[in-house]
Amino acid sequence: VPVQPFDMIVFGATGDLARRKILPALFHRWCDGQIPQTSRILAAAREDMTTEEFLERAREFINGAKGEDKWSAFCERVSYTPVDAKGEAPGWGALKSALDPQASKARLFYLALPPSIYGSVCAAIAAHGLNTPGSRIVLEKPIGHDFHSARLINEAVGQAFDEDAIFRIDHYLGKETVQNLLVLRFANMLFEPVWNAAGVDHVQITVAETLGAGKRAAYYDRAGALRDMVQNHLLQLLCLVAMEPPASLEGDAVRAEKLKVLRALRLIGPDEARTGIVRGQYGAGLIGQEAVEGYGEEVGEATRTETFVALRADIDNWRWSGVPFYLRTGKRMATRRSEIVIQFKPVPHDVIQADAGRLQPNRLVIRLQPDEGVKLMLMTKDPGPGGMRLRYVPLNLSYAEAFEADYPDAYERLLMAVVRGNLALFMRRDEVEAAWRWTDAVIAAWREAGLALHPYPAGTDGPPQALQLMARDGRDWYDGHES
Ligand code: BG6
Repeated sequence: VPVQPFDMIVFGATGDLARRKILPALFHRWCDGQIPQTSRILAAAREDMTTEEFLERAREFINGAKGEDKWSAFCERVSYTPVDAKGEAPGWGALKSALDPQASKARLFYLALPPSIYGSVCAAIAAHGLNTPGSRIVLEKPIGHDFHSARLINEAVGQAFDEDAIFRIDHYLGKETVQNLLVLRFANMLFEPVWNAAGVDHVQITVAETLGAGKRAAYYDRAGALRDMVQNHLLQLLCLVAMEPPASLEGDAVRAEKLKVLRALRLIGPDEARTGIVRGQYGAGLIGQEAVEGYGEEVGEATRTETFVALRADIDNWRWSGVPFYLRTGKRMATRRSEIVIQFKPVPHDVIQADAGRLQPNRLVIRLQPDEGVKLMLMTKDPGPGGMRLRYVPLNLSYAEAFEADYPDAYERLLMAVVRGNLALFMRRDEVEAAWRWTDAVIAAWREAGLALHPYPAGTDGPPQALQLMARDGRDWYDGHES
């Protein structure tokens, strides 16, 4: 799809997200020639500074990047306007006059701001008449703190923008390997016939980070791992694994299928919470060689927020009846590793009766980051004489080895999807709200059950209780090694 020239207004432009992610992503797409020459970026934030000062600060995250020589041409497309996003003139007047009135240009608002003010900023955009027909708005997660607050935000944004003009970011949907999930499932005949309760024993989704809460501790402490990661990223991954084949990749076709999965997620009650949820919090420890503080020290006081959560989710529909989805995410874990494991069922009958080697069920490991790749574990005969000896071997696709091309990072891809108007990579209002409904029930259940918060040292795989969660069901977490 050809890219139409656009004006992108970035509110919160001096913040961390804008400087670290949004501007570098726009710059990289500019370097690749994907941004039409007449497009402009109108940076806006409360601080009083000139465009030159703004660009000087923004450069910090460009230094050393590929295409640094194109920076000055890019800068000509950028201007900075001091605006109080939820407040009054004079900033708004200046912003309005800076905007191109041409209808041929797409107008995109990007709110790199705290979600609590999304509603008032949208109201201000509307009050100043900036949301011309065809304008789009981009919202960062989290959309709210729970179902109720998400609904209020969605209502308020919906007063100024139609649903089809609202692009709610879940940056996991922009990751190369996450997009590949769709291709893997729906462009191969091989998997779909066994991608169901008859063929799959269970699914594991792990997103482990080595980072701690760090500078974001104030936000994070009000959220915790479930709200920060599971409500959005892990549930989106679960949806892409579990959904029915959409008729096309058109925005609403994909989103409608994801919504059905979210609505079929079994609400966890206090009884299931006792056995099916593990909460943890990291203490001091070692990440590699580096000694790091515990979470409580980072926050500055004792806190009961979880930095690790593992849980069993069940999808009550025909395809997945009786197939657990185990989700796990944590900060300050031993290694950074995000992957999806599809553990298939054993063959129904052991024909081989091997002399040696164990017959093991197939396993598909989709490695999202780092070392992106796909690995299918198969049984083979150990070559050579000596009878039937079985061996469990990988068919391995490593992105680094197989593909030479650099691929754009998640933000680059998502920003271009906004520019092209491709909604498939963004969350629809009903999806966000359905995900919160389930998340709220999890939190209510663990409160009612009085779940413990298990400590784990930074640099480990989380609390040992997470192992029991799987062991109770006669299963193990996949640890990257084939048993
Ligand atoms: C964000 C969370 O949405 O995703 C962060 O708020 C987390 O806490 C981040 O660190 C992880 O993203 P990535 O792309 O590094 O896996």
